[in-house]
Formats: sequence, structure tokens, C-alpha cells
Amino acid sequence: MNWYRIKTAVTGLRRLANLPEEDKQACIDAYRFFQRMQDGEKTKTADETKAVADYYKVLNNMLSVFDLEKLYIPPQLNDSEGLYQNQLLCEQALLSELNLKNADKSHLLDMGCGRGRIAHHFATLTGGQVSGYNIDPNQLENAVEWAAECDMSDRLHFKTGDHHKRLEYESDSFDGCFSIQAVWPFFKKEELDAHAQEMYRVLKPGARYACSEYLLTPYFDWTNQEHVALHKRYLPTLAATQSMYPSDVCAALERAGFRVLLSAPSKSEAWPICEQKRDLILMGRKLVRGLEAIRILPPWVEESLDLLQTGGQAWTDAEKAKIADLNWRIVAEKG
Ligand SMILES: C[S@@+](CC[C@H](N)C(=O)[O-])C[C@H]1O[C@@H](n2cnc3c(N)ncnc32)[C@H](O)[C@@H]1O
Repeated sequence: MNWYRIKTAVTGLRRLANLPEEDKQACIDAYRFFQRMQDGEKTKTADETKAVADYYKVLNNMLSVFDLEKLYIPPQLNDSEGLYQNQLLCEQALLSELNLKNADKSHLLDMGCGRGRIAHHFATLTGGQVSGYNIDPNQLENAVEWAAECDMSDRLHFKTGDHHKRLEYESDSFDGCFSIQAVWPFFKKEELDAHAQEMYRVLKPGARYACSEYLLTPYFDWTNQEHVALHKRYLPTLAATQSMYPSDVCAALERAGFRVLLSAPSKSEAWPICEQKRDLILMGRKLVRGLEAIRILPPWVEESLDLLQTGGQAWTDAEKAKIADLNWRIVAEKG
């Protein structure tokens, strides 16, 4: 384990220990809200977005303890490497899909940028600028601090933003935009058009969108009780609110004016890495229990880890059955 990982884990534990009472309660309420959604409760997008922000505010600190600082599970592209190296491989492949002409002069947009570590990786690879927005200010605070620590504040720009609102950027301003497990899991079908149009507006002509996103595969069947039961169990664990088919997203992109160049399953499965992380969290629970006993961490942290694990097996089963994909790839170009 390297120094950066130790420092990140300790910071995550400290932030968890110092979270205000209302933030912890909001996180637990959010998880219950996701469960009620899966039980069929009709919910408004604004309430879903609030629950997502409340949940991620705590989750990002919790997962950073387990080396999940970039809040996504990549496909296992190299099985002799762990999560982090596979994230780097996934990001490099995505960046090449953006097909940048002058990488060092490029300005990219990261939608749902988490703690800004993917933006940081891209800015390092291109030598250009990356802007990112996110619904949760807690993650953004961490992104801004890290950019300053790396002396890259002049090339990394982060601000609060919501996929469901107008994007606060000029038209025709980006050479590419991308998302990693951060956009489509939060959309109902009838809302896809508005966001696709915003993406189209902020991109320069000829610029591309590329993603690695959680989507159902065409084999998922809403009339199949087994599919529906697995979905109900895994979705709250993914901290997602909706499940779209790639064809729905691509149709919205095309209606907005994009030419879809690729819509394809992930290059490899994510479940082996999900299972590695699940085992690590299981081990980590012993530490968490110890910290709870000496009152460094409150008891709800362990409860939250339990909840996180509940859906893990359902995800593995769903992915093995090829009914859902964490890293579906779409590449689309603005005409
Ligand atoms: C699974 S995480 C992936 C984060 C990031 N792409 C990464 O890999 O580190 C999903 C992210 O989407 C963000 N998010 C969820 N709903 C959003 C919304 N409506 N607008 C902007 N960001 C949102 C969450 O705060 C979270 O950072």
C-alpha cells in the first residue's frame, strides 16, 4: 500500500468521524428512499437527485477508505492488475475514443466528475484543460483541493452542476465530453432528450462524447421476474436511481443531432473487481468495528457497509447473466 492510499484512507476516516449528525441521517434516509423506489414508490426527479447528493456526500468518504476514490468499477481489462490500474486502462481507452486533434490545446468536460481524479488523469495525458461538474459539493471540495495540491488549478476547473438543469457553460466550447458511471443511471426515459441537447450545445462541431456507463443490456427483460428481482436488489447498491437501455440513450443522442459511432458492451466484465472490493470491505469491517468500539467511528458506518454489500452478489449474478453492464460504451459525434 503506498503513501497516497494511506493518506486518502486516513482522511476518509477522519471526515467520516467528523460528519455532522444531519448528514449521516440524510445518507441513511437516502438509502431507504432508493429501496422504496425499488419497491415501486413513484418519486420525483428532484427528490431522487437530492437523495443521490446526500448519499454520495457520505459514500465518497467511505469508499475512499477502500481505494475507491474514483467512484466506479472498471472492466477487468488486465487480470493481473487491480482496480486502480484497470481504471487507468479504461480511462485511456475512453480518451482515445474522443479522437482529439490538438490534445494539448483541448478543453474537455467531465459530467458527474466525482472527486475530479479522472479529470486530473485526462489533463495529465492531454496537457490541456478539463472542466467538471457534480451535484455534490463535498466531492468537489476534494477535487479542488487535489488540483491545488498538484499545482493544476489553472487546468482543472470544478463547479456544482446538475445533469437535469441547463449546463452552466458556453455553447460550442468543449473539444469533447465524457462520463464514467455518472450520467445515465440518474435519468428517466422522458428526460434523456433535454440532457442530450445540452451536451450537443456545449460541444464544438465535430467534437465527440464518449462514456463508460451503467446501462441495461438488450437481454434485460422487464417481464422476466428473475431479472426484475436481481435489479431490485442491486440498484440501491450501485447508488443509481434509474436503468436505461443503450438504445434509449442513443436515440436521444441522435434526436439531439449526434451521429452515434459506437454502442457496445464493455470490453470485459467488472464483477471480478466488484468481488475483490467486496472482500476488502469485509476485512475492513473488522477495523470499522474496532473504531466503533473506541467511539472513533459511529455505529452507522458499519450498517452502511452492510447495506453496500447486500446488493453485491445480485450485481455479480446480473452481470454474469449479461442483463446489465457497468461499462457500456457509447461514442457519438456532433455533426
Ligand atoms: C458512480 S459516481 C462516478 C463519479 C466519477 N465519474 C468517478 O468515476 O469518480 C456517480 C457520480 O455522479 C454524480 N451525480 C449523480 N447525479 C448527478 C446529477 N444529477 N448531476 C451531477 N452529478 C451527479 C454523483 O455525485 C457521483 O459523483
